[in-house]
Amino acid sequence: MNVIDDNIKVTKAKSSRIENVNWDALGFGKVFSDHIFVAEFKNGQWDEGKIIPYSSMEFEPTMCTLHYGQTIFEGLKAYNDIDGSINIFRPDRNAKRLNNSANRLVMPDFPEERFIEAVERLVAVEKSWIPKERGQALYIRPVMFGSSNFLGVHSSDEYKLVIICSPVASYYAAGLKPVNILVSHEYVRAVRGGLGMAKTAANYAASLLAGKEAKAKGFDQVLWLDGVHQEYVDEVGAMNIMFVIGDELVTPTLDQGSILPGVTRETVLALAKEKGIRTSERRIRISEVYDAHERGELKEVFGTGTAAIISPVGKLNYKGKEIVINNNEIGPIAHDMYETIVGIQRGETEDTHGWVHKVTTI
Ligand code: COI
Repeated sequence: MNVIDDNIKVTKAKSSRIENVNWDALGFGKVFSDHIFVAEFKNGQWDEGKIIPYSSMEFEPTMCTLHYGQTIFEGLKAYNDIDGSINIFRPDRNAKRLNNSANRLVMPDFPEERFIEAVERLVAVEKSWIPKERGQALYIRPVMFGSSNFLGVHSSDEYKLVIICSPVASYYAAGLKPVNILVSHEYVRAVRGGLGMAKTAANYAASLLAGKEAKAKGFDQVLWLDGVHQEYVDEVGAMNIMFVIGDELVTPTLDQGSILPGVTRETVLALAKEKGIRTSERRIRISEVYDAHERGELKEVFGTGTAAIISPVGKLNYKGKEIVINNNEIGPIAHDMYETIVGIQRGETEDTHGWVHKVTTI
């Protein structure tokens, strides 16, 4: 056992699987690095956590999360800076959001500074797993779940926080190619007062059937309308959504509680303001999107998320009516946002916001 810090013990894997990686065919979330971080919550407190070799985990069939879904996760990325250092993008935002999700799911907080420390230590151990190419990254997936064994419906007494690393390429195989989106008017992802603002498994489970049916009809993903009126735009796939209408960048407001507060969403809004683009966070009816298109004012539509960063929408189909956005090509604002964010993440563009967290514990 080799101790790199007073708190987090590191047990190194006997051998590495890195030689088997095909770096040109990473895809998304298919390759996992050699080590994970694991912390356990028992008797009302978190232990110090440890870094151990990636391996299967044992659980009993009565583990409550399997039955009642008390589980939350995060997603963030680490990059090789062009100066040779290692950058993690905005881990403080993920630390905060993890605890907001935990609060909604009646789970214990994990102290923010310890979250950042755990992510940083794990990335330092796995530094050789950070892909080198622009457009690739080491995706970091923290997941927290109830680990007590029982069948009555109540919150767990014990929890685990596990952090996994996965070298990834673009989320969509097509990269920045515009996607073809079906506006779902049959299914909803989240409702007012529900779990939409939490990054929890149930929201993704709720999305699977609509996604499968959309794919069978030739679409890439689904655009979600609100669960109350089925009139207002919520999210696209597993991402936040933005529209350029006239000269304004518009995105749905978070105040209904049904939309995930995306870190990339927040980043794009901040950059847009700085670049002198008018922004608005408000409710947007799907009919407003179609009306803007009719008037020739719908300039761009794109999704924002950690996995894809920016995902341009080329076509929308609502109740059989298709509209094509920007000739099915990536628009200038989406393109500029992608380039600016990737530039900051890789150290090519100055980080004037303090968004880049340097890994110092190598
Ligand atoms: C993201 O955009 O980062 C997501 O939330 C997608 C993830 C569930 C794979």
